Amino acid sequence: MDVRRRKLKTENDDIFEVDTKPRIKKGHPGKRYFVVVVLLGILFLGYIAIAYDLKPVHLGSKAIDTLAFSFNLQKPFYVVVIDAGSTGSRALAFSFHESILGGNLVLDDELYTDIKPGVSAYAEKPKDAAKSLTVLLDKVKGVIPQVEWQHTPLSMKATAGLRLLPGHKAQEILQECRKMFEDSGFQISKNSISIMDGTDEGIFSWFTVNFLLERFATHNPGNTVAALDLGGGSTQVTFSPDSTQEKKLDGHVYSVNIFNHNMSVYTHSYLGMGLMAARKEILTHGMNLDNLNLKDAIEVRSECVNPIVSTEWNYGGFNYLVKGPVNGTHKLVKTQNFAGGEVDRPIVNFSECLKIIEKYVGRIKNKPEGLKDHEIYAFSYYFDRATEVGLVDPFFGGIIQTSAFLKQAMDVCDYPNTDQPFICLDLTFIYILLRDGFGLEPTTKLYLYKKINGHELSWALGAAFNIIQNGL
Ligand SMILES: *[C@@H]1O[C@H](CO)[C@@H](O)[C@H](O)[C@H]1NC(C)=O
Ligand SMILES: *[C@@H]1O[C@H](CO)[C@@H](O)[C@H](O)[C@H]1NC(C)=O
Ligand SMILES: *[C@@H]1O[C@H](CO)[C@@H](O)[C@H](O)[C@H]1NC(C)=O
Repeated sequence: MDVRRRKLKTENDDIFEVDTKPRIKKGHPGKRYFVVVVLLGILFLGYIAIAYDLKPVHLGSKAIDTLAFSFNLQKPFYVVVIDAGSTGSRALAFSFHESILGGNLVLDDELYTDIKPGVSAYAEKPKDAAKSLTVLLDKVKGVIPQVEWQHTPLSMKATAGLRLLPGHKAQEILQECRKMFEDSGFQISKNSISIMDGTDEGIFSWFTVNFLLERFATHNPGNTVAALDLGGGSTQVTFSPDSTQEKKLDGHVYSVNIFNHNMSVYTHSYLGMGLMAARKEILTHGMNLDNLNLKDAIEVRSECVNPIVSTEWNYGGFNYLVKGPVNGTHKLVKTQNFAGGEVDRPIVNFSECLKIIEKYVGRIKNKPEGLKDHEIYAFSYYFDRATEVGLVDPFFGGIIQTSAFLKQAMDVCDYPNTDQPFICLDLTFIYILLRDGFGLEPTTKLYLYKKINGHELSWALGAAFNIIQNGL
């Protein structure tokens, strides 16, 4: 989790094996992994503090802390993380305090606030990208006392949305954001406004989930859970393999020091396999947009969209008019009324749509072997789509089998619904990604949650700890 190791590497996001840079060399015995050592010693204290915090038996110590708080003996401190994602920007303001009992670090609260669209939507107007973030900054300022601003580190990490933009456009956006944050009164540094690579994103998310679930207590890889994060532009698979699994994995394994123990962590970020990036490729069949007039919506027709749909969709600064196929598939359905007649219902031809999606997901060659042996926590878009079709409760989350995504996909594809024009495509993509991309079985369980113990599942908490450890 040390940002400095980043300089040792080249690209981390790859779905095409030919793009893989030489960090993993096949046929080099003993050099199969790019081993990176990361120090997180201080976090050990943090972990103990949180573990105490959650266990009733330790309520006594918490009560003393709380008392100290009310007498103003303890000062809270804050870390602000801005997640500039491809579909939206989110601000998380974490507050911690150092416990009077042994100086442990205790995570108290977090403010979560978000806006849409993401900064990458302002590719042509970088100043507006920065302006869009001031709403978030104002909310953050509302929860952190002004006297603390100058001591509060602020970090903005952009993810796949900016990774997918041409380099100079991404840099212009970052430049404008940096200017805005320099005037904010918060502590920033040279590196605090940047594009985060997929490896950090994966490791930070994995850290957050396992930390909140208290899975680091034994440092046994078998006790940790796998983290599946489905963003807009990219998707990450991260878990700690045991030594036999590690042998089967072709690279992407890092040695990460968690609470003074080295753990092997596999993380792979698949650029272009985020839900929105995949949707765009599936809808457009990889159409080249370079020479198109930006003012007009680009009309695309897709087998994965119901024939009655005609809807506008914005992604990556382009505006699409999305329609179903010209001669769409219909299905005769018996009506419920007394006449017993039949209606001609327009549907998505599921097998046709499936072929397109299987072809796209088939680009993933490097499967995460051993993933299905872990408990798998899936969040972000996995969670959102599952709740939208009633697979899990939006407040409590839940556990499903991956085949539940397939069943729901087939149901929704068979029904015209202009309110959710992409739900058929999205659910089918998610299922095929899990099955073909990651090698999961229909019966593999997925734990779908948005929050654990009141804290958002995202890479931001991991990133905040990294700042506390290594500075901005
Ligand atoms: C972690 O691994 C590095 C080498 O990869 C080693 O130098 C270090 O001592 C190890 N730390 C622990 C706590 O085992
Ligand atoms: C749609 O069907 C009509 C009539 O069967 C046919 O003439 C036309 O070529 C078809 N269009 C496409 C795009 O398949
Ligand atoms: C879907 O499309 C295929 C190939 O065009 C066709 O053979 C099949 O009958 C279609 N399915 C339905 C339900 O119409």
